[in-house]
Amino acid sequence: ESTLGAAAAQSGRYFGTAIAAGRLGDSAYTTIANREFNMVTAENEMKIDATEPNRGQFNFTNGDRVYNWAVQNGKRVRGHTLAWHSQQPGWMQALSGSSLRQAMIDHINGVMNHYKGKIYAWDVVNEAYADSGGGRRDSNLQRTGNDWIEVAFRTARAADPAAKLCYNDYNIDNWTWAKTQGVYNMVRDFKARGVPIDCVGLQSHFNSNSPYNSNYRTTIQSFAALGVDVQITELDIQGGSATTYANVVNDCLAVPRCTGITVWGVRDTDSWLGSGAAPLLFDGNGNKKPAYTSVLNAL
Ligand code: XIL
Repeated sequence: ESTLGAAAAQSGRYFGTAIAAGRLGDSAYTTIANREFNMVTAENEMKIDATEPNRGQFNFTNGDRVYNWAVQNGKRVRGHTLAWHSQQPGWMQALSGSSLRQAMIDHINGVMNHYKGKIYAWDVVNEAYADSGGGRRDSNLQRTGNDWIEVAFRTARAADPAAKLCYNDYNIDNWTWAKTQGVYNMVRDFKARGVPIDCVGLQSHFNSNSPYNSNYRTTIQSFAALGVDVQITELDIQGGSATTYANVVNDCLAVPRCTGITVWGVRDTDSWLGSGAAPLLFDGNGNKKPAYTSVLNAL
């Protein structure tokens, strides 16, 4: 196959990218994105601050721009993200307790209702675990009660039964890390108690502090064995090692329930890390990097 999306489709998987609404006027960007990828995540446009800037007043202008570009070009969409400590609008940051809990529920309902039946998978909850220790991250949402995550998932299931519901996080790639075990135990508990969860998103932002480790495949296999799909949701690799990119692809392909891979941007110049990190598959001129060829050959 000659594109990432077509190559991934040979095994029933997808290959996606984050898309920024502000770049849709850049034809060099859209040409590559349209050609290579068959799944789209809005980089920022479906987040809480973007979709509910004032309480009860939803704005889907930019989310719809990304959604419509994707669907008009034959791509599916991952929804990102409904409940998160970061990129909350000011009004939500100011809430606490039962009022914040209700605002979270209302937000999930408002956004999921707008996109009902249109989203492949939603990152219902993003980054709820602490970086070390294996427990929950302290946040305004966590302070509403430990059950906030399962309430978010139950709300999401009722709002759009057609969407897969994912828990998404970073630094849960290395099987030996406490954070990975904390999320694994939560998913195991949810499956045991019938809390609706369909997938785990491994963001997979790899850098010198959180490098790729060969136990990544064990992590993917272990989550999958709980009865959830695994998706690699925000892949970027500082330095852009072709070998590491191939390892990531091979690890996903080794697990039937690893259903797809999304890279967090198109060209290095589009990366949230800055182009100096060179973490993506295309350089700033839109040329295919060695990592691109490595991924294509591995798929
Ligand atoms: C990042 C975007 O790429 C940036 O444009 C924005 O300024 C901050 O958020 N984990 C996530 C993503 O779940 O939403 C983040 O995206 C990167 C880390």
